[in-house]
Amino acid sequence: MRFETKAIHVGEEPDLEGGSGDVVVPIHLSSTFARKKVDVPTRGYEYSRTGNPTRDALEKRLAVLEEAAFGLAFSSGMAAETTLAITLLQRGDHLLAFDDLYGGTRRLFNRVLGPNFKVEVTYVDARDPEQVIKAIRKNTRLIWLESPTNPLMKICDIAAIANIAKEANILVVVDNTFLTPYFQKPLLLGADVVVHSTTKYLNGHSDSVGGALMLSDENFYRQLKFNQNAMGAILSPFDSYLVLRGIKTLAVRMREHERNALRLADYLEGHPNVRKVNYPGLKNHPQNALTRRQATGHGGMLSFEIEGGLKGAKRFLENLKIFALAESLGGVESLIEHPALMTHASVPRETREQVGVTDSLIRVSVGIENIEDLIADFDQAFEKMAKT
Ligand SMILES: Cc1ncc(COP(=O)(O)O)c(C=O)c1O
Repeated sequence: MRFETKAIHVGEEPDLEGGSGDVVVPIHLSSTFARKKVDVPTRGYEYSRTGNPTRDALEKRLAVLEEAAFGLAFSSGMAAETTLAITLLQRGDHLLAFDDLYGGTRRLFNRVLGPNFKVEVTYVDARDPEQVIKAIRKNTRLIWLESPTNPLMKICDIAAIANIAKEANILVVVDNTFLTPYFQKPLLLGADVVVHSTTKYLNGHSDSVGGALMLSDENFYRQLKFNQNAMGAILSPFDSYLVLRGIKTLAVRMREHERNALRLADYLEGHPNVRKVNYPGLKNHPQNALTRRQATGHGGMLSFEIEGGLKGAKRFLENLKIFALAESLGGVESLIEHPALMTHASVPRETREQVGVTDSLIRVSVGIENIEDLIADFDQAFEKMAKT
């Protein structure tokens, strides 16, 4: 089966042997499952935190899409990240991370894992694998990557870093939220675990918060599954249903997101009020060749630097009519935000500016509306910005 077919069918095969043949998996709301024999759970189910048929259907689909053996669905992307970090890292371990990451991930590393668990964290510009090599220490246990990064759209060579890590016996985690398995499969490039905020493209409709981990090592999966049950960060049956439904259109949505993002990036590149556009699909993006090698597309996220600093950015953002000024990304509707004041506000100003998250930076999640309407909305907001 090809990607589009798996995204629709895996995990939702109609049960014609004793079931009612639903073509859509039922939302199993039951918190507990009755059994005939004291020591035999019915079809393996005992309590919904431990296992739930709707969540199982989703986990099966998530695994297949990333070409992983196993999938786990969590109550948020951060819940997935926390469970993974707590499972893998011990006091005194060293974590190496890309210096441009989702702000909440940095907050987890700096404000929770650092002070509470004594995990040491180093951030490097992972666009250059040499910097990764230089930063490895004896106690480095994990390398954490995003590619493209949030919000600067930097790309790292996942296969090269995975090779470096393997030699040093270090695990590699890739947050694949931006490109999704439709465009990029980090496990096939050598990563050990893939993280997702399913809140974004996988669900795709801005109406569910969730997260996922996909991996192929069975021992490691069992440890994670045990810890997920022990700590309790599971996705609800209703959210599992929503994500299953969203994934059915992932391929078509991603193609449209990318088409619109490319058009918008081209438009912005030629605009006098724009200083710089960050979109890996543009020929002049510094890692355009690399991303073409390791991914089959560039997705629907881009960022740009506007003229006029914070004042200019605010004027532009507050005059948009179709783009919603909101955090989050990956829904069918276009969203726009100011990372320094919104998604990355928890990152100290100095650190932000060092990596390039300035007051002039605007991040766009390009939706799948008609692109002419989106460009017209930008046009009128740029005009109003110039007048005020
Ligand atoms: C790349 C990335 N990873 C992880 C997360 C965290 O996911 P959640 O908000 O579902 O907890 C986000 C949220 O914006 C994100 O953008």
